[in-house]
Amino acid sequence: MRHLIVPSVDTQHWLNRIKANDWMEPSYSILSLDDDKKAIPLSAQAPKNTDDIWQGLEFVELNRRKAAKRWTDLLEAELYQRFEEFWPKSYEIIGDILIVKLEDEVVPHQREIAEAMLEKHPSIRLICADKGVHGEFRVRNLTPIDSRDGDTSTLTRIREGGKVILIDPTKSYYSARLSNERLGNLISAKKLAKTLDRPISVCDPYAGVGPAMASIISSPNLVDYALIGDLNPDAVSLLEQNITNFTRKVDTKMVIKLLCQDARLWKNTHDYLAKIDLLLVNLPHDTVNHIPELLPLMRKNSRSLIRGWAIINRDEVAEIRDTIERQLKQHGATEIDLQCTEVKGYSTSRIFVRIESWQTFN
Ligand SMILES: C[S@@+](CC[C@H](N)C(=O)[O-])C[C@H]1O[C@@H](n2cnc3c(N)ncnc32)[C@H](O)[C@@H]1O
Repeated sequence: MRHLIVPSVDTQHWLNRIKANDWMEPSYSILSLDDDKKAIPLSAQAPKNTDDIWQGLEFVELNRRKAAKRWTDLLEAELYQRFEEFWPKSYEIIGDILIVKLEDEVVPHQREIAEAMLEKHPSIRLICADKGVHGEFRVRNLTPIDSRDGDTSTLTRIREGGKVILIDPTKSYYSARLSNERLGNLISAKKLAKTLDRPISVCDPYAGVGPAMASIISSPNLVDYALIGDLNPDAVSLLEQNITNFTRKVDTKMVIKLLCQDARLWKNTHDYLAKIDLLLVNLPHDTVNHIPELLPLMRKNSRSLIRGWAIINRDEVAEIRDTIERQLKQHGATEIDLQCTEVKGYSTSRIFVRIESWQTFN
């Protein structure tokens, strides 16, 4: 198959031009070549190599295999067999970024891995090696390996519950795996609004880029006050843009306060006290310690809801439940309906739990 060779930096320009004229061979992706060049597969309809439109660029004939079942099918057979037990078996996709952990044995072949993955996943722009989480805000340490169009930015967009969310996993924590919990937040928020028979006030002090708020504050007549924030300034900068997008088409009158501050200090601002109907506490390594610091924010004399997530020892569930119940009672909670439910395993001895508490503070 004929491929146009372009410098990596010009890939997007040529891709736009070729796609606009329908000259790209469907089902085949762009390949990375040595010397920072890319090869764009051309269909039979594309003009001849000598046409002025190509501005003197070169071409190459490459044999391409079609529609591999797995990305490893696109590796050279001999290479695949040599490292059979070390090829990554799983990866994570966030927007148009594919994140993969590589065993040391296959790191020298990361380029081949990335090319095969780009070819297998036409909607992926960037392949990154996952070097774990780091720093106070537990953000991802990612090293770009290869990009389809030369763009190695880790800023991307995902769609969840019909909302577009801006994310940069190297700047702010984000987990796609918790989307079910976020759906649970929306269902509980609607149940609370129905119980109270009015729009509710919500608080998400560990919001990251704001995925939990996406569906809640964009629901008509659900929320009239939102106190949202994060301690990480990079997260808050994306959070601001996301909140603006989430509320763009909402007519409901809503007051939104965005803070970049340790959530434990919010209780020191008089204006934030005793206003919140629904509190989310998503700081799994520290949730149980932070809950008491947030309770002064909860509204008094009406039903309220706290949903939190924690990583705890498997045999600690009853103890954690009792600790939280004690904290709630110390802050004047009555009619407490508190559940601590395992959501998933975290390690052999630890589990990820959801804490959900309905109560009335006096
Ligand atoms: C587990 S993440 C949750 C992010 C988001 N809610 C989500 O589901 O994607 C916890 C967030 O809390 C922030 N954080 C850590 N300590 C904090 C503190 N003391 N006050 C406010 N935010 C904090 C981190 O920067 C991080 O974004």
